[in-house]
Amino acid sequence: MRALTVIGNWKMNGSLSINQAWMQSVGEGMQCGMPAGRRFGVCVPFPYLHQCSQLLASSQLLLGAQDVSAHESGAYTGEVSAVMLQEMGVRFAIVGHSERRMQYGEANETIALKAGAALDHEITPIICVGETADERNSGRAIEAVRRQVASQVSTLQDRLVDCLIAYEPIWAIGTGKVASAQMAQDMHRAIRLQLAEFDHDVSAHIGIIYGGSVRADNATELFAMPDIDGGLVGGSSLDAQEFLAICRA
Ligand code: PGA
Repeated sequence: MRALTVIGNWKMNGSLSINQAWMQSVGEGMQCGMPAGRRFGVCVPFPYLHQCSQLLASSQLLLGAQDVSAHESGAYTGEVSAVMLQEMGVRFAIVGHSERRMQYGEANETIALKAGAALDHEITPIICVGETADERNSGRAIEAVRRQVASQVSTLQDRLVDCLIAYEPIWAIGTGKVASAQMAQDMHRAIRLQLAEFDHDVSAHIGIIYGGSVRADNATELFAMPDIDGGLVGGSSLDAQEFLAICRA
């Protein structure tokens, strides 16, 4: 059985005081009881990792980062290595988010190296894939996602089983236009079938989560789909109560 995983992605939001209030509300909410057999996490901006790791010390919510360097150490100004993240108590790192692919030119090859670096330090990479609106509208969505997944398979091989894949259709991110549960399920199924061409074990055990305008009012239907193993939640994760409602969905 694959565990359901719900991860918040704050993106470039937060402040010391906002984070403190959020962590307190979510911590209290989670103490009131969460469905068993699920994993919850939140990916915060780098400067807040230390603060959040302290605030999360006795919580079941796991700490995540929004990126990680492909390199171990050295002359890489502005980069943050997996070993540094590990030292901060980070358990998840998003890699290849479409905002990074599009705005910072991250390519599949770099993304696979970042995922590998995270795995080397016991951090679960959340590898994001997804098609643009154009690709979806012209019937090329599966082909576009297949290419992104294939590149990860060729580099990571069976280490992929320790990663999470986040299917995030780009047209659904931050737009309020969520993919229908069936549309998301179809893509998750396609990814799982593609992975089965490579290795049945990886295909059966890897968690594939959905991201793109997940809210409390659509999470239940999405998470009920057989190949959807949870969610990567952007905008809705900024509101503690909304995030808790999604975790309970
Ligand atoms: P959204 O973002 O939930 O605000 O659409 C999801 C993401 O970018 O991970």
